[in-house]
Amino acid sequence: MEQSLYTILYVDDEEINLKFFSATFSWEYNVLTASSAQAGLAIFKEQEVDLVVADQRMPGMSGVDFFEQIYQLNPEPARILLTGYGDLETIVQAVNKGRIFHFFQKPWVEEELQTLFTRALQIRTLQRENSRLILHLQKTNEDLSRALGEVESLTTLLEEENQLLREEVNESFKFDEIVSSSPVFQEVLHRTERVASTDATVLITGETGTGKELLARAVHRLSHRRQKPFIKINCAALPAQLIESELFGHEKGAFTGANAARPGRFELAHQGTIFLDEIGDFPLELQAKLLRVLQEGEFDRLGATRTTKVDVRIIAATHIDLNAAVKQGHFRSDLFYRLNVFPIHTPPLRSRKEDIPLLIRHFVRKYSVKNGKVIRRISKKTFQLLQAHHWPGNIRELENIIERGVIMSKGDKFKVDNWLLEDLSNELAIEDQNGKIGSLEENERSHIVRALQKTNWRVTGDQGAARLLQINERTLQSRIRKLQIHRPNGIDD
Ligand SMILES: Nc1ncnc2c1ncn2[C@@H]1O[C@H](COP(=O)(O)OP(=O)(O)OP(=O)(O)O)[C@@H](O)[C@H]1O
Ligand SMILES: [Mg+2]
Repeated sequence: MEQSLYTILYVDDEEINLKFFSATFSWEYNVLTASSAQAGLAIFKEQEVDLVVADQRMPGMSGVDFFEQIYQLNPEPARILLTGYGDLETIVQAVNKGRIFHFFQKPWVEEELQTLFTRALQIRTLQRENSRLILHLQKTNEDLSRALGEVESLTTLLEEENQLLREEVNESFKFDEIVSSSPVFQEVLHRTERVASTDATVLITGETGTGKELLARAVHRLSHRRQKPFIKINCAALPAQLIESELFGHEKGAFTGANAARPGRFELAHQGTIFLDEIGDFPLELQAKLLRVLQEGEFDRLGATRTTKVDVRIIAATHIDLNAAVKQGHFRSDLFYRLNVFPIHTPPLRSRKEDIPLLIRHFVRKYSVKNGKVIRRISKKTFQLLQAHHWPGNIRELENIIERGVIMSKGDKFKVDNWLLEDLSNELAIEDQNGKIGSLEENERSHIVRALQKTNWRVTGDQGAARLLQINERTLQSRIRKLQIHRPNGIDD
């Protein structure tokens, strides 16, 4: 038998009426009966009822009072009162108060009652529909605000990405060309090209200004990830806590000031490359977390309960000796081995002096364009002068000197004056003041240059530099040769 859609509860103290009602309407409805108001209330509390019919005259509780209580429990099901007596006033009051949907004079006629039920149940259907719609609306609302939240976090992600891309665009103007002809650096470029197409982690080591970042960018450009972001982070420039949230991101409320969730650079670099510059300064306490990204490709945002997975190629660079850092306990050995999969060493400029003329031309061209100058000639002496220099700051130092030279040049001839080289030795002194300790050779060199400047480049005799430095004249001469110290005008003593 089919289950009826609607349930009608009928309450009457006379058993015969209940039986008759049941017999009449059970075909169409699911009929529940109760022989007292109390029993009716108990059923009403237990089961879902769509319509309640009750007799007015019952011992213990009248129909009107019964409906008042039903109404308090659930006002939605329609309530129909059957009455044999003209107890009109109370009934009209109850109708007016909305406690009764309709009342009916006994004896009832099936068809009339049926029509009434149909109307009442139509309303019930609409009520049900209504609450379904309200629920749906609430859910849609929730979905909508969830979607809105997602849109918001996506927006911040995009904004972050955008910011980094903009920085990137500015950067890329700086590094358009790698200039080199020396066999040592050609070999470096070879290795760079070979590793680029793989996903291997690359560790670039070399002195300051030797082009480590330039190579890191080249690896990315030559890789299949070139359309995806290249994200750089300078590990020396940030305190540990900031590095952690910069790299791995954080959830809202992860720490004071974390007002909104923020993706880290690893997430931004997804499918691209991340460049960890100055990895030697990477905080020891975060090294295990970095190792996990290298090994598993996953990490947790600060304050996060779930793990984030990324596909990122890692390039790291450092000017310090990581092996020594491992021995001193500043750097985890397992992290070092993971990073050192494919090492590339950028040789210092002084060991590839044949690159200097090319670099000079390159930078003179670059900075004349930048400064709106037309420079057509570079003197031989300038070439000699620049080639003779020791370049402790490597290509960056050469680039700076040339930029200044271009700015100072008059007419179409590029020329570096003596003051530039004097500047160079001052720069060395400034570097020392900043706490950077140059190598013994660098310091020896600059010390000898300073002594020679004081003696007007005399090495021997009472007025010579050897006396000033309190060393043997022959020893000084051989040092000058070994360190390739040249007099700025190009004519040696
Ligand atoms: N082979 C090259 N050809 C042209 N320009 C170069 C070359 N190598 C380096 N440069 C330039 O020299 C400057 C320094 O290079 P880069 O920043 O890559 O060095 P770095 O090793 O990362 O230095 P640091 O250790 O100081 O961060 C940059 O302006 C770069 O464009
Ligand atoms: Mg760098």
